[in-house]
Amino acid sequence: MKKDFLSVSDLKREEAQQLIEQAVDMKRKGTPPVLAGKTLALLFEKPSLRTKVSFQMAMHHLGGHSIYMSPEEVGLGKREPVADVARVLSRYVDGITARTFSHETLRVLARHSPVPVINALSDLEHPCQSMADLLTVHEKKGGLSGLALAYIGDGNNVANSLLLAACLLGIDFRLASPPGYGIDEEMLKQGREFAAQSGSRFQAISDPYEAARGADVIYTDVWTSMGQEVEAEKRRLAFSAYQVDGRLLDAARSDAIFMHPLPAHPGEEIAAGLLDDARSVVFDQAENRLHLQKALLARLLAPQQAD
Ligand code: NVA
Repeated sequence: MKKDFLSVSDLKREEAQQLIEQAVDMKRKGTPPVLAGKTLALLFEKPSLRTKVSFQMAMHHLGGHSIYMSPEEVGLGKREPVADVARVLSRYVDGITARTFSHETLRVLARHSPVPVINALSDLEHPCQSMADLLTVHEKKGGLSGLALAYIGDGNNVANSLLLAACLLGIDFRLASPPGYGIDEEMLKQGREFAAQSGSRFQAISDPYEAARGADVIYTDVWTSMGQEVEAEKRRLAFSAYQVDGRLLDAARSDAIFMHPLPAHPGEEIAAGLLDDARSVVFDQAENRLHLQKALLARLLAPQQAD
């Protein structure tokens, strides 16, 4: 049966661990062409740099092809119902990667597509980002469980998936967000369930310095996500005490790393120059999207060969 990847919670703990191990392996040893003759459709409602190019290159390295469709091209749900787009595309391609506003659009695509559907970011989650992030943490820290990650900023799609991935794999997750901008209850519930199973801990801490104290990873994302542009000014005010700078990183462990999914806005969620701080691993983090997604595509599009 086909498998989709719409949420981190689509993975069991062992599957998430295997995915990271496979990505480490592919990164070290090169990529077998297990997707020769296969094609991935990339269906995007929002702009993209890393996700688009890393998925296209992942398919290329695996011996397959990709077809990119820009926001204007398909008119998901406008020119044609989402269900019909899924039913048509799946007659031509072996997998669909989609970036949507509503997470429900992904669910409808998945329901009507006999081929795997992968979430390339929705308003609710960004699971490929988070699994690639944990690959980076694994590389930099030599493992995952027992670490503490402090997420400073908006409880958005990136935060949601990171919470789930961290709690699933035994990393303590601390969240520092301004009132009204935290992670929503449903996600927190899921995160707490994962944490209870893996032995990790979730804490909401309003003071960013307290959240950062002794952490192994400091993570932030934009204050205004794609689709929220009208709120940008209001958000700049609400988040002004949550900027990540060198002083905040100093509160973390001396060997802590700084992560951001990019694109970044120096002067907003990070201080100018922070991407070039010795503790920043953001460009390795961006590279790892490619490696993690290769492992993911091999598993979903050629499950027999990937095992
Ligand atoms: N939270 C951001 C992530 C971009 C990779 C957004 O949705 O715009």
